[in-house]
Amino acid sequence: MSGLQGVGLLLLWGSVCLWLPGLARGALLISGDQKDLQEQRGAAKSLQKRSANEAMVEVYSVKVDCTVTSRFAHTVMTSKALNKANYSQEIFFEVDLPKTAFITNFSMEIDGQVYVGEVKEKEKAKKQYEKAVSSGSTAGLVKASGRKMEKFSVSVNIAAESNITFILTHEELLQRKLGRYEILTRVKPKQRIQEFQIVTNIYEPKGLSDVDAHASFLSNELLPLVEKTVTDNKAHISFSPTMEEQRNCPDCEGTLIDGDFVVTYDVKRAKSLWDIQIVNGYFVHFFAPLDLPRVPKNVVFVIDRSGSMTMTKMTQTREAMLAILKDLHEDDHFAIIQFDNRIEMWKESLTKATKENVDEAMTYVRNINSRSATDINEAVLTGVRMLAKDRQQGNLPERSSDMIILLTDGMPNSGEFDTGRIQSNVQSAIGGNMSLFCLGFGNDVDYSFLDVLSKQNQGIARRIFEGSDAALQLQGFYEEVASPLLLDVDLRYPDNAVDSLTTNHYSQLFNGSEIVVAGRLTDNDLDNFMVEVFAQGFDEEYKVQGQASAEDWNVLYPDEDYIFGDFTERLWAYLSIQQLLGTSKSGTPDEKSNATAKALEMSLQYSFVTPLTSMVVIKPETEDEQGSPLIADKLTEEQRQQAEKVAYKPYAAQPPSYAYHQTPTYLVDGDPHFLIELPERDDALCFNINNKPGTIFNLVRDPIPGILVNGEIIGEKMIPPDGQINTYFWRFGIVHQSLGVRLEVNTQDIVVLQDGKQVKLPWSDAASVKGTNVDLLLTKDRSLTVTLKDSVKFVILLHKVWAKHPYHRDYLGFYTLDSHLLSPLVHGLLGQFYHGIEYEVSELRQGEVQEKPDATMYVKGQELNVTRGWQRDFRKDVKNGENVPCWFVHSNGTGLIDGDATDYVVSGLFKTV
Ligand SMILES: *[C@@H]1O[C@H](CO)[C@@H](O)[C@H](O)[C@H]1NC(C)=O
Ligand SMILES: *[C@@H]1O[C@H](CO)[C@@H](O)[C@H](O)[C@H]1NC(C)=O
Ligand SMILES: *[C@@H]1O[C@H](CO)[C@@H](O)[C@H](O)[C@H]1NC(C)=O
Ligand SMILES: *[C@@H]1O[C@H](CO)[C@@H](O)[C@H](O)[C@H]1NC(C)=O
Ligand SMILES: *[C@@H]1O[C@H](CO)[C@@H](O)[C@H](O)[C@H]1NC(C)=O
Ligand SMILES: *[C@@H]1O[C@H](CO)[C@@H](O)[C@H](O)[C@H]1NC(C)=O
Ligand SMILES: *[C@@H]1O[C@H](CO)[C@@H](O)[C@H](O)[C@H]1NC(C)=O
Repeated sequence: MSGLQGVGLLLLWGSVCLWLPGLARGALLISGDQKDLQEQRGAAKSLQKRSANEAMVEVYSVKVDCTVTSRFAHTVMTSKALNKANYSQEIFFEVDLPKTAFITNFSMEIDGQVYVGEVKEKEKAKKQYEKAVSSGSTAGLVKASGRKMEKFSVSVNIAAESNITFILTHEELLQRKLGRYEILTRVKPKQRIQEFQIVTNIYEPKGLSDVDAHASFLSNELLPLVEKTVTDNKAHISFSPTMEEQRNCPDCEGTLIDGDFVVTYDVKRAKSLWDIQIVNGYFVHFFAPLDLPRVPKNVVFVIDRSGSMTMTKMTQTREAMLAILKDLHEDDHFAIIQFDNRIEMWKESLTKATKENVDEAMTYVRNINSRSATDINEAVLTGVRMLAKDRQQGNLPERSSDMIILLTDGMPNSGEFDTGRIQSNVQSAIGGNMSLFCLGFGNDVDYSFLDVLSKQNQGIARRIFEGSDAALQLQGFYEEVASPLLLDVDLRYPDNAVDSLTTNHYSQLFNGSEIVVAGRLTDNDLDNFMVEVFAQGFDEEYKVQGQASAEDWNVLYPDEDYIFGDFTERLWAYLSIQQLLGTSKSGTPDEKSNATAKALEMSLQYSFVTPLTSMVVIKPETEDEQGSPLIADKLTEEQRQQAEKVAYKPYAAQPPSYAYHQTPTYLVDGDPHFLIELPERDDALCFNINNKPGTIFNLVRDPIPGILVNGEIIGEKMIPPDGQINTYFWRFGIVHQSLGVRLEVNTQDIVVLQDGKQVKLPWSDAASVKGTNVDLLLTKDRSLTVTLKDSVKFVILLHKVWAKHPYHRDYLGFYTLDSHLLSPLVHGLLGQFYHGIEYEVSELRQGEVQEKPDATMYVKGQELNVTRGWQRDFRKDVKNGENVPCWFVHSNGTGLIDGDATDYVVSGLFKTV
């Protein structure tokens, strides 16, 4: 991947899409050696400079200071660096912040001069940004970083022997999930730091419980380096290892600090005690009562089994479903609907979750397999009708929660296609009577569609990332909604005492979560602050009423210098903006524009970087560069998803995904579709070769052991009605000279010639032939596995077509399974990839077909236009194949393959030229 620096960076306004090759994920980082952050401008110049002076930037201080006041987290990240060189150079600053947080301030101090960022309307910032770009300057960047974080990075040119300080502040309301709050700090300093510190102070007036701190990079012996002091209502957690303690091993210069530092806690909850904070004219009410019995639920699982659900995704879905079914409570009711272009119900109505019923459902789930297209509209409506009917007929407990969980990995492409119409169909069918939760599996879902669909129906949407832990993600989500405690929760405050309330009606309260409502007190009349909560409980109405009183934070925390002053107000603003941003997508047109305007106004007033605003700081002028704006943005979930599509699987540090087979596979199958699967990269490349029927191509050639694989293509019986002329491989010649083996495989039979003896095997037999140098395993009418001793293993698949098909004929597919023993000289259309291929892909853009974006591939010193598509691997499922997403290289693979496709044409099945 070296030699490609300077090509990975791209910022598109509005949709930030980036892929920085090899970029260290994570972290708080400053360095003078950040090759990945090359700008197009002057890349060569600064590269030279940098490689000569890697050690000339010293980062001498990194501090992360987080203060949590009643769940509201305020984090300041400070980094200081010194340019030790006797000339100016570029210094890079990178931090990761939680995607749920808003940046609220950014500043740089250079030579005693402070440059402070300002939050501006995004459109205005964009104008400034465009000017900067046209004058050749750089801008700050924000991009997705893993599942939970986003990365902010800037670079500044610093004079010789000068110091720089970067300070970034962000804020967020911590959300309670499965009974705890989490504060996540990602640190990746890349060098040992003189002064390194992560400090977290938590203030919770009602008291703290289960305070825990751990880090992915700290072994048990090193955990004592984390100091933890917890008193009744305050926790202080500090981690400040010395230079010596930061070493990754006794004699190493490297740092062990590299990963996530996580603090978790919960708040003590006592029965019927309010948790309401009132400070400076704003109140916040946290509602999560203790010891409530769960309310039974009626849940319809609507499961996508369309063709795009790969074998892996389907397996993970089944695995998750089995665990979820096992966890159903006896008094729950459930139904399962699987859909592609057709809808299939396990049963016509909901079923009580008795042991026998669950067992029966599990058997059913084990048999769900992927098939055809995606009819989301009909599938969800079927679920709604089923629930509504059972509810109407009194088949369900009166007090119980009705929900639909939709799992899909694609866009609607069967039945109703129009996402707007699906949304209105579903919304009017549900009519506020049940919740719809949408799980979008992988990168090919239309997440904004699912997000709006669930927001319109009292639910939430969640992305499920492809990867080996997908089943756990599905179960994790289910657990969050598995135990409703209250339904129709209404939180009421006196009309004449409060205004600007955030959402105060929720259709459910789930076990382990929390409802938060904030608002402004109109006349600060605390004597009259009556609070009421009404809801439907397990077997009775839930109702509490009482007077809230303000706690005096100065009395609670007499020794603290921290000004708690405005945290309730900022919390209120944060929550209001988040909710307005939701309405700005899911409301009526009028609501949308009002919500957008209000969210923008509040973002500007409270200095929050939201999807509607940007942080702009003017970079100082230097001898090399004129002053220019640096800009920080906020990504929406759709933009994150878009960016991930480009990078495809950017999470190098996450467990490897099973989406691909575990060894590299090189294959040609179907209308000569070449597919190079690269499991270490979780990616694949593909191309087609077109030529006249009868043409013979060389696929593999290795002069050292004398291996040759050639294949001949054949056309259709006649030109199909769509005029598309396809060709297929129908005959392969395989020679291994030093082993004295020669094979001819066509769609009829297999002829093996070894040591002068010839054996003919028809495809209609099953056979296993073990020779001294070659093993053949023939599965009747299906596949032939060829193992050449100490050399290579191939599989040839037979695709049998209905004999009377008007134009298709039988054809073959060729798969290389093990090629690592071949020599470095191995070549051919497939063979040239056996020893790996280096490439980078970036600059995702709209392609001809919406689901198939185009991108630029840098490979073999060239830039190619490629298209994201998929091709099929038929090894596991000979009939339908398994979709493998891949980068498609156009024009007969030109640019990816060495030379031209015609260079691989040979004159005979066993000929080398
Ligand atoms: C910078 O330092 C190098 C040696 O470290 C020296 O050769 C060079 O003359 C210095 N340049 C300036 C401009 O001082
Ligand atoms: C932003 O940071 C600068 C420098 O640290 C500070 O002077 C300023 O008060 C901060 N602004 C806000 C709104 O906190
Ligand atoms: C940079 O900061 C360090 C640490 O605060 C200080 O010792 C040093 O004098 C500073 N150097 C310059 C050139 O300002
Ligand atoms: C929602 O439930 C109410 C009360 O049961 C019922 O009257 C109404 O028709 C339902 N709405 C829809 C769209 O089914
Ligand atoms: C949107 O704002 C306008 C002007 O403030 C107001 O008249 C209108 O009622 C609002 N619409 C909604 C749906 O809130
Ligand atoms: C790639 O496509 C773009 C337009 O989509 C075109 O301008 C460019 O020339 C193409 N590049 C190559 C190498 O084909
Ligand atoms: C692929 O190669 C064949 C044979 O040389 C040629 O006819 C065809 O136009 C090529 N296709 C593309 C898209 O370049």
